[in-house]
Amino acid sequence: MSSHPDSPSNTGDPGAGTSGRGGTSGHTATSGRTGVVSPDRAPNTPRLPMTLPLLAEKKRLGDPIVMVTAYDYPSARAAEAGGVDLVLVGDSAATTILGYNSTTPVDLDDMLVLARAVRRGLKTALMIGDLPFGSYEISDEQAIASAVRMVKEAGCDAVKLEGGGPAPASRARAIVGAGIPVMGHVGLTPQSSTALGGWKAQGRTAKAAARIASEAMALQGGGCFALVFEAIPSAVTRELMPHIEVPAIGIGAGPDTDGQVLVFHDLLGIRDGLGPRFVKRYANIQQEMNAGVSAYAEDVRTGRYPGPEHGYSIDAGELAELHALLG
Ligand code: KIV
Repeated sequence: MSSHPDSPSNTGDPGAGTSGRGGTSGHTATSGRTGVVSPDRAPNTPRLPMTLPLLAEKKRLGDPIVMVTAYDYPSARAAEAGGVDLVLVGDSAATTILGYNSTTPVDLDDMLVLARAVRRGLKTALMIGDLPFGSYEISDEQAIASAVRMVKEAGCDAVKLEGGGPAPASRARAIVGAGIPVMGHVGLTPQSSTALGGWKAQGRTAKAAARIASEAMALQGGGCFALVFEAIPSAVTRELMPHIEVPAIGIGAGPDTDGQVLVFHDLLGIRDGLGPRFVKRYANIQQEMNAGVSAYAEDVRTGRYPGPEHGYSIDAGELAELHALLG
C-alpha cells in the first residue's frame, strides 16, 4: 500500500524506483509448445487470461509484469483496458477510497464488496485479493477461511498477505495447501507500519536487508507464486533478485524486479498531494473531478444548467390537454 499522506518519501536515494524495464506488453498470443507469451503477436489478437504458468514464463523471459490496484468496476475496467497482467484489490482501499488514514481498519467484508465489483470489470488480468489486517494473523485456519471467502464470494484468483516472519510463511503454506495461490509482500508492509517505525523505506542497513531477504525466502519456500517488494533500496533489490525464483513485483524497489505495481489512485492523481517519491503520475484526475464538480455547481447556480437540450418534450396537444385538466 502506498497511497498515504506520509508514505515513504524519505527513502534518501534520489530518483528511486519509478518505472520498470522496456519490453513487450500484454499476454496475448501463444507460441505452440509452451503456450506462453509471443512478443510479436499480430495487432488485435485477443488477450488471453493471465495464468500462473504464464506469469512464471514472463519472469523467465524477462518480460516485465504490470500490476495495478483496483477497487471497483470503473478502476477494474481501466486496468483491463490498459492491458495489465495482475490486478490487486489492495487493502490500500482503506485510504484511497474509504478515507481512513491507515490500512488497518478495513475488514474482510469491506474487501469482499470491493473485490466483487472488480471481478465484474475484469476479463483477462489475474485478480488478487488482499487479505486485510485481522483476517489471517490468528491461525492458519483463520487464514484459510478468509482466503476461501475471497475466492468463493468474490471470485479472486489468488490472495496476498503481508509480512515474512514464520507466521506469515506458515499462513501462506496453509492457504497454498488449501489450493489457493498466495502472493507474499515484504519490505514496507503497511499493516504493520507502526511496528516498522512508520511509513518509511525498509532494509537500509545490512541487517535489515538480510531480514527482508530471509522473509522473502520463507514466503517463497511457503509456496508463494509471487512476491511484492515495497519501499526498499534499489541496490538491495538488485542483491536479492538472484535468490528469488518466483516473480517479484516492485513498488519503490527500483527497476530490477520482474514487474512493477502502483496504486491506481497514486498513478492517476486521484488524491491530494504528490504521494510517495516512487510514484510516477500519469494523470491528474482529482483536479479534473474537482474542476468538473465546481463547473456543474456554478452552472446550476447561474441557471446555465439545465439547458433546453437536457429536457424532454411533450406533444403540444397533450400539453394543452394537461393544462385544461389542471385548470
Ligand atoms: O494494498 C496495496 O495497494 C498493496 C500494493 C501497493 C502492493 O499492497
